[in-house]
Order: sequence, then C-alpha cells, then structure tokens
Amino acid sequence: MKKLFSAAAMVLGLAACSGQQAEPEAAAVNVQSLGQSAITDIRPADAVASYPVKGTAIERTFVHQPPLIPHKDSYSISADKNGCLTCHSVEKAARMKATAIDKSHVKANGEFNGQYYFCVQCHVAQADNKQALVGNTHTK
Ligand code: HEC
Ligand code: HEC
Repeated sequence: MKKLFSAAAMVLGLAACSGQQAEPEAAAVNVQSLGQSAITDIRPADAVASYPVKGTAIERTFVHQPPLIPHKDSYSISADKNGCLTCHSVEKAARMKATAIDKSHVKANGEFNGQYYFCVQCHVAQADNKQALVGNTHTK
C-alpha cells in the first residue's frame, strides 16, 4: 500500500514538472533567427572562388618557391591516402598530365619522403575570390 502511494505521488510530481500546466498568460518569447535572412527568403548562392584554367602553372616569383596550386586544394590528405599523390606522384604524374613532385620530396632510394606528406603545409591554392571582402578594423 505504501509503495502504491509513493508511486502515485511520483506520477503527480512528474506531471507537475512536465510543463503541461504551464501558465496560459506567459509572455510570448520573440525568437529571432541567427541567419541574416528570413528562413523563407530565397537568395542566390554565394559566389564560389574561381581557380586558374585547368592545366596551367602559375609563374613563380622567387627561386625555390613552393609553386602555388592552380586548382582546388580540398583533396583529402589522411593517414591512409594522400589525394594529391594520386596525380602528382612520380609514377602517376605523366598519365594525369600533372607535374611530378619535386626531387626534394623523394628519398635517395626513390621512395616518397614522408616529411613532405602534408602538401598544403607549403603549397597553397591561388584563386580569384569572388566574395566581398570582410572589413578589417585592426590597428597596431
Ligand atoms: C586530378 C589530378 C590532380 C590532383 C588530385 C591534384 N593535382 Fe595538382 N595539378 C594537377 C594538374 C593537371 C596541374 C597543372 C599542371 C602542372 O603544372 O602540374 C596541377 C598543378 C599543381 C601545382 C603547380 C605545379 C607547378 O609547377 O606550378 C601544384 C603545386 C599542385 N598541383 C599541388 C597539388 C596539391 C598540393 C594537391 C593536393 C591538395 C594536388 N595538386 C592535387 C592535377 C592534380
Ligand atoms: C616542406 C614544404 C613542402 C611540402 C610539404 C611539399 N612541397 Fe612540393 N615543393 C616545395 C618546394 C620548396 C618546391 C620547389 C622546389 C624548387 O624549385 O627548388 C616544391 C615543388 C613541387 C612541385 C613542382 C615540381 C617541379 O618539378 O616543378 C610539385 C608538383 C609539388 N611540389 C607537389 C607537392 C605535393 C603533391 C606534395 C605533397 C605530397 C608536396 N609538394 C609537399 C615544398 C614542399
């Protein structure tokens, strides 16, 4: 019997907390979207960056400069696979019509030098940014 009472008390307690008895007069909360346009607005997609014409190399500006990447640089570089080497490795470059990696990226025995694995550490993509630049108020 005691058990039944405490179970009933618990159910009542839960019902009280469930919010079903919320005050009817509670002031409406004015929730605003975090986005800059109303959710129902249809606006054109942001302009995407354009890369130099496929198959072109960008002229280097100083000796031993890591050449700029004339295409997108979002190929995945993970522990299992290096997306850049699928075109630029010594074995595949000619077939992919890409320049093979530099001699410095290869060890004396012909193996790839792992120190050069993270290509975008040195090579950066060059693109014509079509989006409006963000203002900067930085002062020294
Ligand atoms: C689908 C094939 C492909 C993939 C994948 C690829 N590239 Fe390229 N890349 C090319 C081609 C084609 C060119 C233009 C020909 C050239 O100059 O090598 C090029 C050019 C370059 C150049 C300029 C070479 C020069 O001498 O000016 C660099 C640097 C480069 N890629 C780096 C990268 C990096 C880093 C990655 C990975 C983020 C990558 N590429 C992935 C095909 C590819
Ligand atoms: C530690 C910096 C560094 C890393 C990491 C690196 N590179 Fe380079 N890369 C260079 C430099 C510097 C050159 C220019 C060498 C020169 O002209 O003496 C170069 C040259 C190249 C070239 C042009 C070769 C030629 O004969 O014109 C290609 C293609 C290239 N790298 C691809 C890659 C790829 C793909 C990766 C990743 C697997 C990579 N690099 C990683 C610094 C780096």
